[in-house]
Amino acid sequence: MAATASTTPHSILLQKIPQNHAFLQPNSITFTLTNQRCAKPFSISCSATTPIQDRPSLQSHPQDRVFNFAAGPATLPENVLLKAQSDLYNWHGSGMSVMEMSHRGRDFRSIIEKAEVDLRTLLNIPENYAVLFLQGGATTQFAAIPLNLCRPDDTVDYLVTGSWGDKAFKEAQKYCKPKVIWSGKSEKYVSVPLCDGLEQSANAKYLHLCANETIYGVEFKDYPVPSNPSGVLVADMSSNFCSKPVDVTEFGLIYAGAQKNVGPAGVCIVIVRKDLLGNAQELTPVMLDYKIHAENNSLYNTPPCFGIYMCGLVFEDLLKQGGLEEVEKKNKKKAGILYNAIDESTGFYKCPVEKSVRSLMNVPFTLEKSELEAEFLREAAKEKMVELKGHRSVGGIRASIYNAMPLDGVDKLVAFMKDFQSRHA
Ligand SMILES: Cc1ncc(COP(=O)(O)O)c(C=O)c1O
Repeated sequence: MAATASTTPHSILLQKIPQNHAFLQPNSITFTLTNQRCAKPFSISCSATTPIQDRPSLQSHPQDRVFNFAAGPATLPENVLLKAQSDLYNWHGSGMSVMEMSHRGRDFRSIIEKAEVDLRTLLNIPENYAVLFLQGGATTQFAAIPLNLCRPDDTVDYLVTGSWGDKAFKEAQKYCKPKVIWSGKSEKYVSVPLCDGLEQSANAKYLHLCANETIYGVEFKDYPVPSNPSGVLVADMSSNFCSKPVDVTEFGLIYAGAQKNVGPAGVCIVIVRKDLLGNAQELTPVMLDYKIHAENNSLYNTPPCFGIYMCGLVFEDLLKQGGLEEVEKKNKKKAGILYNAIDESTGFYKCPVEKSVRSLMNVPFTLEKSELEAEFLREAAKEKMVELKGHRSVGGIRASIYNAMPLDGVDKLVAFMKDFQSRHA
């Protein structure tokens, strides 16, 4: 009788994993025994007893990573990536990846529910607000917001402090009567309006702003109050979501694509006051009706499951860091170091944005000798600092330093900038 260790689909995969990954023990091995006199082979299975969920996380290999200054999708916390890596093959002993789970199953429900609870804790979101995990990016909300919050003849106000606010305004034109009541376009978007003294429309259903304009690097430090007592403030927080505490009660609706500060592309988070739900325009597609998503706890259809799981890991990490007050301190420190380096460069580097509204997240700057920018980017990339090119519409350099950018990354960039200046001034 000959015995050969044959392979289950799982053991084929496991054979490819280096031996030193001790935590990845095969959980079943099948021996096929062939008896010459017996036509049919038969099998004996033996299962390892090591509890899969106790396996240690993978090790970090900083030498394999770059400092990624991309504006989004953007760098994620290293410990979150490692956790996701160790969960990837078999989430909590379920025998499957989160990518393979039914969104209606108990396991995925526990993931989405915990993500929501943690986000509520982080932002102190009151019970009278719904938290939705949606698809379609922030761009889809540019249409969903007017469709849900007003009628076709209603007036709404927009503050345009950059390209995203402008896009939101243009999309709203299809569904209601939006009005731009302040625009920074003629000054190339280097500031935001003062909160007091805005000439708001008396009957505006909402006042929309982009809390942080990712391309130009301007960020609201406080927020205007709608002058219409029944109007609400709506904010696109895609690029500064969870970067600092926010008083959610100042807003009727907050929305944010996840792919900058809280997860991978594919998830868009909407936080909306519940009394605003249920008034969507008749033609609103079901997928854009916030009430439907709220009633179904974001499970009306198949949600972006893996992305939501990743957001959950990020929320957990932010809580472990001490919450958004602590996160903001770190972000202020990083941004302060970078802006100081720019301001102290005696004009070699310049940031066009008004100091009082400079973004903590996206730091755009130019070189006095613009012909050196390509060289700057080349040399930085050689030093493993990548994605520093400014947005294609404005050029220059842009360093996006979201929550997950470590202080070391900013220190290294600043040291590089000083060295580059000393060689090229
Ligand atoms: C502030 C802001 N709003 C909206 C968007 C559009 O997001 P999405 O591509 O997820 O639709 C972006 C994307 O970079 C952004 O930075």
